Amino acid sequence: MAETKIYGHRGCMGIYPENTMLGFKKAIEQGVDGLELDVHMTKDGEIVVIHDVNLDRTTDGTGYIRNLSLAEIKEVSAGIKFSHFLHYNESVWNLERVPTLQEVLELLAPYDIELNIELKTYLINYEGIEEKVLNVVKQYGKNRNVIYSSFHLPTLLRIKKIDPSAKIAMLLDHQITHPNDYMETFNLEALHVSKRITIMANHYLKDLKGNIRVWTVNDPLEINELFDIGVNTIISDFPERALMIKNAR
Ligand code: G3P
Ligand code: CA
Repeated sequence: MAETKIYGHRGCMGIYPENTMLGFKKAIEQGVDGLELDVHMTKDGEIVVIHDVNLDRTTDGTGYIRNLSLAEIKEVSAGIKFSHFLHYNESVWNLERVPTLQEVLELLAPYDIELNIELKTYLINYEGIEEKVLNVVKQYGKNRNVIYSSFHLPTLLRIKKIDPSAKIAMLLDHQITHPNDYMETFNLEALHVSKRITIMANHYLKDLKGNIRVWTVNDPLEINELFDIGVNTIISDFPERALMIKNAR
């Protein structure tokens, strides 16, 4: 059985501001097998790494990503809000900017680390985002193992149509009746499932264990259980914790 991998969720958002270069660097230092991040598209067609459709929750700016240029987005701090959320911070966090996908791929260049790009297209329609993301990866992510995920199946099918070699994974927060058929029908490399599905119904996913990545798993007992099941990947806000459990087993 292949070893279960550990991905840092939005970098390592349990400890550092989510989806920032700082968080990605820290996750790399911790020894993650992969990084998970979220992308949206700006008014001028740039791919930026941020979870929400707007700047409001995670930055000191406001407005929808689709209505702002990259230059406008680069003016805001992507770290400043996390002093409240994480109950501690360092002033250097305030210097963090919303990264572009290109910047993250350049950061990753020296490392053999997988990248899970989640396209947040179920919330908003970004015309042509699939092609843009693939082009950035083609240009700056040569030979990297990239997995494209989304809650929005049409997005994944568009990616596969543009690049038949792309690995696509469906995000699920509910059980589906025939997961094997689902994967085969849509040519999915994996299912990315909420931990609730796996913990509550691991019998249902038993045959799929090598093809599931589970999010977002922070509880040590749940992490341990998923190692027992032998899932492909655990996606955690605290990847260091998951790595320590893995090494201690
Ligand atoms: O990719 C798994 C997980 O990140 C999906 O949920 O809201 O954290 O992006 P969310
Ligand atoms: Ca995500």
